[in-house]
Amino acid sequence: MAKKKRSVKAKIRKVDGNSLNPQKELAEFLKSQFPQVFADGKIDGDKLKKALGEELDTNNERYGLTWAGKNECFRHIQETTTATLKIPDLKSQNSENIFIEGDNLEVLKVLQKNYYGKIKMIYIDPPYNTGNDSFIYPDKFKEEKEDYEQRAGIKDAEGLLTKDGFWRKNSKDSGYFHSNWLSMMYPRLFLAKNLLKENGLIFVSIDDNEIHNLRMIMNEIFGEHNFIEQIIWKNKYGAGAKTKGFISIHEYILCYSKQPIDNLDSPLGESEIKKHNKKDSKFPIRGGYRTQPLETKSLGDRANLIYPIMYQGEEIWPDKQWVWSKERMEQAIKNDEVEIIKYKGKWSVRSKQYLKDENGVMRRGKPLSIFNGPYTQEATMDMRALFKEDVFPFSKPKDLLKQILSYRIDNKDDKDELVLDFFAGSCPLAQAVMELNAEDRSKKKFICVQLAEPCEEESEAYKAGFKTIAEIGKERIRRAAKKIKEEAKGKLNFDDGKLDLGFKVFRLEQSNFKQWRENIKEPGEFKKNLLEMVDNVAKGAKPEDMLFEIILKNSRFDLNVKIEKKNFDAIDYYNLADGIEIICLADKITKKLVEKIIQLKPEKFTCLDVAFKDNDQLKTNTALQMEAEKIEFKVI
Ligand SMILES: C[S@@+](CC[C@H](N)C(=O)[O-])C[C@H]1O[C@@H](n2cnc3c(N)ncnc32)[C@H](O)[C@@H]1O
Repeated sequence: MAKKKRSVKAKIRKVDGNSLNPQKELAEFLKSQFPQVFADGKIDGDKLKKALGEELDTNNERYGLTWAGKNECFRHIQETTTATLKIPDLKSQNSENIFIEGDNLEVLKVLQKNYYGKIKMIYIDPPYNTGNDSFIYPDKFKEEKEDYEQRAGIKDAEGLLTKDGFWRKNSKDSGYFHSNWLSMMYPRLFLAKNLLKENGLIFVSIDDNEIHNLRMIMNEIFGEHNFIEQIIWKNKYGAGAKTKGFISIHEYILCYSKQPIDNLDSPLGESEIKKHNKKDSKFPIRGGYRTQPLETKSLGDRANLIYPIMYQGEEIWPDKQWVWSKERMEQAIKNDEVEIIKYKGKWSVRSKQYLKDENGVMRRGKPLSIFNGPYTQEATMDMRALFKEDVFPFSKPKDLLKQILSYRIDNKDDKDELVLDFFAGSCPLAQAVMELNAEDRSKKKFICVQLAEPCEEESEAYKAGFKTIAEIGKERIRRAAKKIKEEAKGKLNFDDGKLDLGFKVFRLEQSNFKQWRENIKEPGEFKKNLLEMVDNVAKGAKPEDMLFEIILKNSRFDLNVKIEKKNFDAIDYYNLADGIEIICLADKITKKLVEKIIQLKPEKFTCLDVAFKDNDQLKTNTALQMEAEKIEFKVI
């Protein structure tokens, strides 16, 4: 009896403690009974009706993924950016590798014109939406424009992006958990696709939290027909923490192409190479060989594949048929490309597969859809080889990226391809590119984009002096470059200028020009700044800053264009690509300079409107003369 009483009491206490929110209780009950009527943690009334057997109007039913905020995504994509890229120092940076600090949505917009269709491969490793990730929220159209700088990752008082406001944790009970993530990813993937070459590929790392949604939006943006693979990457040895279900030892890498491709191949792995262990007279050029049977049972019956091979006075017949026609077989036997041996009284006819082709070029293989490593522990070792402290514990192994970078599309060796990572973190892609270039003397170039996300004050990174993840990324590239140089001392010649181990840094900033800032509509600090502008140029804008903005907005060249500073009639001007385009950023232009430019015959001449402030006549004459000489004349 006493026992019974205690258990009732215990029950009552439990109810007391947990029944404060009856709606939540009801929702939990419904969720347990009808999980299918919940999406993103919220109840869907129509689905509930359906679950209860009520009739629904199904005329609007169609296949697809939708979420709260999907339509807004298209507005995000179309909104023109008011940002540009600023280079801290023009002189010291002559590398063709690029690191950009800022929000990748704005950066992707800034790059749209000059990098459209130029990128061979994009790799990204976005936040996986684990419930603990912070990312930029996409719902800020009505934002006060002084907040713009924060959103674009430009600065707070200290020049850092603050965590308040736009940079927030996306928790599982936000009610928009998946929607927030999808709205963050969709516009970025959409804009990224534009930057890919026709036969370019994009690889996106992801895990079980969002793989299903990512695949749906990738199908929508890239087209289901451009799906290449959902790679399973076994990223851990095994064991690890006890979980309720399975111990997860893999992630995914989704791969899509921009347009359908014909072939993807990869270098042979070490174990494959080892299988080519036989030698014949062709060894010096073609390396070792392995053999493959020339008899097949798997092809459909074909009469022309059934014939005898005459060898050592015997006729050798296939059980079913050969793989090759008679002519091809005879030719291959003549060329010593067929191995015929008797094994246990039966003839075996096999073709020789050499490691290299007739020109000594290594054979390639096909990539497998499951990557067995490299493991995440290797990423830790990569970082420890460069930093004493564990400054970025969640990086990807550089060898994973080297593997992806070594793929070849449609049999084309594109040795100076441009690759992009716009969730760059500690920049393993940059290290992978530099190492591959050092190994095979190719000239791949990278663009890494990383927000100036502040490091947590308790983190090892912060204690080691890194205020932002962008700083970690840049320092990793510097240290990796130094290591490559040290390791290659005596083996490689770095003085021929062929191995680019540097990078130039750009920061996302507001436009230097009034007209390009004007789509900022809200009043506030930002508007006040506009009024302080001298004519249409921002106060304090440096020529280099304006130069790159003009290149990005008004030139056919990209950020790696050759730039030479020249001076004539005491006025500076810049030659782009040996003078194909000329830009002058002086606040005064003379007749003599205009004549000089006309003599130089560029395709395009761009200068500031303010340079003709007191001389409308000169402006009109310049326009007429340049038109006569077929020089495109632009004023800003
Ligand atoms: C998963 S980490 C990438 C790690 C990286 N692959 C590595 O191995 O070091 C994602 C990175 O994206 C950055 N990031 C998140 N949102 C961003 C945004 N809107 N613009 C630029 N970078 C962003 C984060 O700061 C973080 O460093």
